[in-house]
Amino acid sequence: MTDVFSSSHKDVHEQVVFCADEQSGLRAIIAVHSTALGPALGGTRFYPYADEHAALADVRNLARGMSYKNALAGLDHGGGKAVIIGDPSRDKSEALLRAYGRFVQSLGGRYITACDVGTYSEDMDLIARESRFVTGRTLSHGGAGDSSILTAFGVFQGMRASAERVFGTPSLLGRRVGVEGVGKVGHRLVDLLREDGAEVVICDVSEQAIERVRRRHPEVDVVADAGAMTGADLDVFAPCALGGALDDATVARLRAKIVCGAANNQLAHSGVEKQLDERGILYAPDYVVNSGGVIQVADEIGGFVMERARAKAAQIYDTTLKIFGIAAEEGVPPAVAADRLAERRMSEVGRLRGIWLGR
Ligand SMILES: NC(=O)c1ccc[n+]([C@@H]2O[C@H](COP(=O)([O-])OP(=O)(O)OC[C@H]3O[C@@H](n4cnc5c(N)ncnc54)[C@H](O)[C@@H]3O)[C@@H](O)[C@H]2O)c1
Repeated sequence: MTDVFSSSHKDVHEQVVFCADEQSGLRAIIAVHSTALGPALGGTRFYPYADEHAALADVRNLARGMSYKNALAGLDHGGGKAVIIGDPSRDKSEALLRAYGRFVQSLGGRYITACDVGTYSEDMDLIARESRFVTGRTLSHGGAGDSSILTAFGVFQGMRASAERVFGTPSLLGRRVGVEGVGKVGHRLVDLLREDGAEVVICDVSEQAIERVRRRHPEVDVVADAGAMTGADLDVFAPCALGGALDDATVARLRAKIVCGAANNQLAHSGVEKQLDERGILYAPDYVVNSGGVIQVADEIGGFVMERARAKAAQIYDTTLKIFGIAAEEGVPPAVAADRLAERRMSEVGRLRGIWLGR
């Protein structure tokens, strides 16, 4: 059983809530890791976990990750996440989502939910009928819509910052960039890269996803799989499929000088960041460069304005460069520097809530 009251300070969560509604079949866990910077914000994952222990471990990890992501995205939000245990294709129903919405509402705004794996903007519209603390709704319901737009834009900004650091210019003109996974985020990233004049290589397990890119950009090269991509002569490798793209074997094989992509949890285990560093490969921390999506949905909370959200996502460029600067100064890999910068903001800005404002 996961130790909920773990002693490691990074693992302590403010609140973990178990929610059940027998009739609709709802079994959900909401984890609020930190509200130091404001109400916890993070998506709801709908996934057929093997058991509730696996669900609990996942939601705690994801919630903690959101505290760090939101802190470095410059948002006034802490970190939280929720999981609904079940197969979304079979178990999702109006009653279940609305039951879940009532539990979200019951937290009084300490947790604001959004989309994640297995949940979509239309689901958020339903949850929003029971709770005010929902974002990532459809455009027709006043929402920010598809968050992959600014996720891709943010990854592109992180890549420009990485290019500036390694090549001395942010332009990707003539650079060879491998994009693993051309789904919602990856295909938009390809658009931005081609606009900037990069040579693009893609791979995907879905023939449909590849065809969509090939229709827009017939000049893009396609390789069989991630193995072929990481062994290829690339300047930049952009993992945009699932997590764990960077394991020992991949890092040993990798020929790119930069890794910068959208996928969450790219490092298969701790220590990989050091191996990348030792091989002279610059790693742009995933949760920093993929924060454009959360920036987009956070903007919806005050009434969505795309241009304002885009301007905030553009700051990912500066944040990424700042992290590389700290990493060099403190002699640590960028992933460690990012954690330190996030913890600094949580503590420095979070502390201000202790200033009494009077009645
Ligand atoms: N959508 C967002 O706003 C957002 C925000 C932050 C992070 N992310 C992360 O970015 C990644 C991509 O998200 P998305 O929304 O584009 O998802 P998606 O499901 O639309 O796209 C993923 C793509 O990867 C492909 N894929 C799966 N396994 C593969 C493999 N082994 N090799 C090559 N391709 C493979 C899939 O076929 C699909 O086309 C995910 O890790 C996600 O968690 C997404």
